[in-house]
Amino acid sequence: MTQDELKQAVARAALDYVVDGDIIGVGTGSTANFFIDALAGVKHRIKGAVASSEGTAERLLAHGITVFDLNDVASMSVYIDGADEITDTGAMIKGGGAALTREKIVASVATKFICIADGSKLVDVLGAFPLPVEVIPMAQAVVARKLAELGGTPRLRVKDGRAVLTDNGNVIIDVLGLQITDPVATELAINAIVGVVTVGLFAARGADVALLGMADGVRTLVF
Ligand code: 5RP
Repeated sequence: MTQDELKQAVARAALDYVVDGDIIGVGTGSTANFFIDALAGVKHRIKGAVASSEGTAERLLAHGITVFDLNDVASMSVYIDGADEITDTGAMIKGGGAALTREKIVASVATKFICIADGSKLVDVLGAFPLPVEVIPMAQAVVARKLAELGGTPRLRVKDGRAVLTDNGNVIIDVLGLQITDPVATELAINAIVGVVTVGLFAARGADVALLGMADGVRTLVF
């Protein structure tokens, strides 16, 4: 199976977690996009969705799925999203698509976080994938120095010669070379740096269920 086929398989499997009549929290990225496409087939069963990015909102709307503002939604049964890395305890690195802050906010309102990913995302220790940190632009240099003090190598995310801006108008610093053996402590430490909006570590509130696409089928981990 190709990586895309593995992502499609977990996207379809995630439909089992969709609660009839509910509003669903929806993540960002290629796996989340496959989920949105699958969700379109059962859209009559749900009230609508809350999107974790402008891109996700556009895709949901293109499928005719109602998109709710999070300020109008008090609770959701599930938030369904991909990950860049996940451990066997449900801690994740996210933010490869620069949507980490809105992802964390939407996920915080959901009762269950369902992570959907191809099996290559399962790791023993987080950190081989550069850790994304969303930063207020004027704090970029000072935050980069503090991140270097934590032992990582900070690198401003750039595309086509320009700093990548998030949907919130902030920059992303990717931190290379970290071996994150205590994800909760690292999440708290980086979130405490003045100028950081969000770190892409989802450990204090990790996944509740992971659906991982393997060559022999979808493996379910419950945390
Ligand atoms: C976006 C994310 C994505 O969930 C993460 O980057 C995984 O993406 P993909 O499903 O394309 O592998 O956190 O900010």
